Amino acid sequence: MVKRLVRHIGNLSGLGVLDVGCGEGKNATYLAEGGALVRAIDVSELALANARLAWKNVTRITWEQADIRTTQFPDETYDIVVAYGLAHCLLSPQEIKLIFTKLQRATKMGGYHAICSFNSRAQDLSAHPGLIPCLVPHEFYLELYSHWSILEATDNDLEEVHPHNNIKHTHSLTRILARKPGS
Ligand SMILES: C[S@@+](CC[C@H](N)C(=O)[O-])C[C@H]1O[C@@H](n2cnc3c(N)ncnc32)[C@H](O)[C@@H]1O
Repeated sequence: MVKRLVRHIGNLSGLGVLDVGCGEGKNATYLAEGGALVRAIDVSELALANARLAWKNVTRITWEQADIRTTQFPDETYDIVVAYGLAHCLLSPQEIKLIFTKLQRATKMGGYHAICSFNSRAQDLSAHPGLIPCLVPHEFYLELYSHWSILEATDNDLEEVHPHNNIKHTHSLTRILARKPGS
């Protein structure tokens, strides 16, 4: 999805990116290697340590330990915000709404969001014992972006297997690429 966003935008040189819930940094790195200046935030020190190690030769990324729930941003700061896999880690639909409203405010007019989240349609969590994601309908996310231009919005099944337990399972996934109205 991030690759499709980059194909849509073209030149990333000098664009400011916020990657929230960056994890081990694959999206942040892809965007930085394309020329963007990336602020990559995650609440997990372990994920950030792995990211710093895996991508130690990549420039233009600032890795930062922070909880999105307590992080504030000036209005209209970023050209691109990526929140890939973050929303279903939050505690409630109200919290998702608050945080995505904050991220929307932090985005420049004409800027982009790339978001992805488990949704409530069909989750097989057998491979994830102990995980209790916050699941809301695909339409909840569409409503959050109802005042933006939607470039792409899908609710598809992702089939996967993780190497540590080899359990085949499926997640229903909302993916949205959207553009903030304005210049
Ligand atoms: C499903 S992972 C996705 C990681 C990465 N974006 C990717 O696509 O590979 C979700 C990430 O969000 C982070 N996260 C969860 N809650 C967070 C919070 N409140 N603030 C910042 N990061 C958070 C987790 O630590 C985790 O790395």
